[in-house]
Amino acid sequence: MLVPHRNFNLINEIRDSDIFAVTYPKSGTIWMQQILTPIEAKGDVTPNTEHLNAQRVPWIELIGSEKEFNATPSTRLWVTHLQYKFMPLAVRQKRGKVIYVARNPKDVLVSYYHFHKYAAMLEMPKDFNDFFEKFMEGKVFGNCWFEHIKTWYANRDNMNFLYITYEEMIKDLRSMVERMCRFLGKDLTEEQMASVVEHSTLRTMKQNPQANYKTVPDSLLDHKGTFMRKGMHVTPWTIGDWKNHFTVAQSERFDSVFQEKMRDLPLSFTWDI
Ligand code: A3P
Repeated sequence: MLVPHRNFNLINEIRDSDIFAVTYPKSGTIWMQQILTPIEAKGDVTPNTEHLNAQRVPWIELIGSEKEFNATPSTRLWVTHLQYKFMPLAVRQKRGKVIYVARNPKDVLVSYYHFHKYAAMLEMPKDFNDFFEKFMEGKVFGNCWFEHIKTWYANRDNMNFLYITYEEMIKDLRSMVERMCRFLGKDLTEEQMASVVEHSTLRTMKQNPQANYKTVPDSLLDHKGTFMRKGMHVTPWTIGDWKNHFTVAQSERFDSVFQEKMRDLPLSFTWDI
């Protein structure tokens, strides 16, 4: 079982150099794990091939103890699905840097549905409709998508905060890596930048067992599925796989909930290409 959301508020040893990639599940977490390491290593991709993504850029919610958290040497790279209110207070007082990656939530829902079918630690959904209802009610690991993005984004001025979307990364990965580097204060040469981008493409990541979690035991992930679902079951680089899953009624209901819950946020998404 995944560890439920523990309260990390009390961790106060946040360093200015700490980097947090924040995502709701299925929004580009492992993609960020893949990108951040070679940015930090000035284009060196060796660690990406030698160590599992989760070892190089761990989930803070899966760290065993505060002692372990504090003992990790700088520069510490983290990912997290935590809701804003569970983050260490210091992060919410401008310590460290936060990159929030959002993905259009209809594709998140579809990706998460498929993930539930092969992730042993998650409950198998009865069918797509069953999962659709659970997602809309926020009764999934990671809780409510709407709550996640709303609270993180509404509190962006409390943090050193960069907001990007999965779809922007799909459309122009190089520009987004450059934007991340500017935000993180990392000055990469042309060659180093090219290396980061090349090793972060879906094609490269699918061939890298450390990136696609091939080394994780079958008891946790049924390897008939894959973190890199795209390219196996749908055309690579597609945005809008939800159209292959949602009924018209589900889509309309989703749109109306989206408009209601997101009305105060100046955020828009690419729903298909
Ligand atoms: P799909 O299931 O739609 O294919 P997370 O890492 O947060 O669990 O997100 C997984 C999703 O990100 C999967 O979406 C996966 O294919 C996609 N993804 C991971 N790396 C990617 C990359 N380099 N390019 C495009 N999509 C990527």
